[in-house]
Amino acid sequence: MEKVIFDCDPGHDDAIAIILAASKISSLNIEAITTVAGNVEVEKNTLNALKVADIIGLEGVPVVQGAEGPLFRKREIAEEIHGETGLDGPLLPKHPSTKQTEGHAVDLIIDKVLGSDKAITLVPTGPLTNIALAMIKEPKIIPKIKEIVLMGGGTFGNWTPAAEFNIYVDAEAAKVVFESGAPVTMFGLDVTHQAIATDEIVEDLSRVDNAVADFVVELLRFFSKTYKEVFGFDGGPIHDACTVAYLMDPSIFDFKQVHVDIETKGEFTYGMTAVDHLGVTEKEPNVKFAHDLDAKKFWGLFRDALESYGM
Ligand code: BDR
Ligand code: CA
Repeated sequence: MEKVIFDCDPGHDDAIAIILAASKISSLNIEAITTVAGNVEVEKNTLNALKVADIIGLEGVPVVQGAEGPLFRKREIAEEIHGETGLDGPLLPKHPSTKQTEGHAVDLIIDKVLGSDKAITLVPTGPLTNIALAMIKEPKIIPKIKEIVLMGGGTFGNWTPAAEFNIYVDAEAAKVVFESGAPVTMFGLDVTHQAIATDEIVEDLSRVDNAVADFVVELLRFFSKTYKEVFGFDGGPIHDACTVAYLMDPSIFDFKQVHVDIETKGEFTYGMTAVDHLGVTEKEPNVKFAHDLDAKKFWGLFRDALESYGM
């Protein structure tokens, strides 16, 4: 079983990523869920992670809170996409029975990575603050990380014309992670915008008959509504779920090895991932860049995962 740590800001698509990973058709072993400030304040993201853990009956997995904001910059949140709670849509109990584990996400990541008998995969689906802090505090973790499978960046933006939200919120942290030498597999907007939950897809998923699937459909309905209103899309792109779909079936995606630099100075380009598609920098590739997905396979896996909750 592959060991993974989710570092996230749930968030509709973060929640869906966790649900995929914990499904009965997944062979991923979730070692911990750590939270970071991102879509909303970190306390709300933690509460949402606990609610998700409740719904899927995730037992024995520590949920640990992390950074309250970016390394250097003022915090920005994405309430217009995820609502005030960060997980608007489904009606959820205010007080989940799963309890937060004491401690700080950064220490937990360090302890888990150093203490593990085999290399751990990190799956960050929010700003990269916790991962960067862990690397700065204990660089010995870097060679012990199997792979960093992240959602962030792309060759265009959704928060500014040049920058995607997760990278923009803490570009200095992203710079630390991308330059760390740890293997990075990147799911940016180029590929995640191919994972759109259209009305037709949501309608089909609504026929899966179990409580977890019902919850996911409610998440998708809210998320799709905001994406239609804010961006004029046909539905919500479930960005973060691409990371897990890859870990469950890498053949869904097409990749290219490229060099990616993180822009931290530009007036109009702060938080941009400068993807060197043509090799013009002559720098060694540092990223496995996902650029296409097989939508039929992706949604097939997704449906199977939801169905497995009824088995
Ligand atoms: C990313 O930003 C968040 O709103 C989503 O959860 C995803 O991680 C997409 O830009
Ligand atoms: Ca996210």
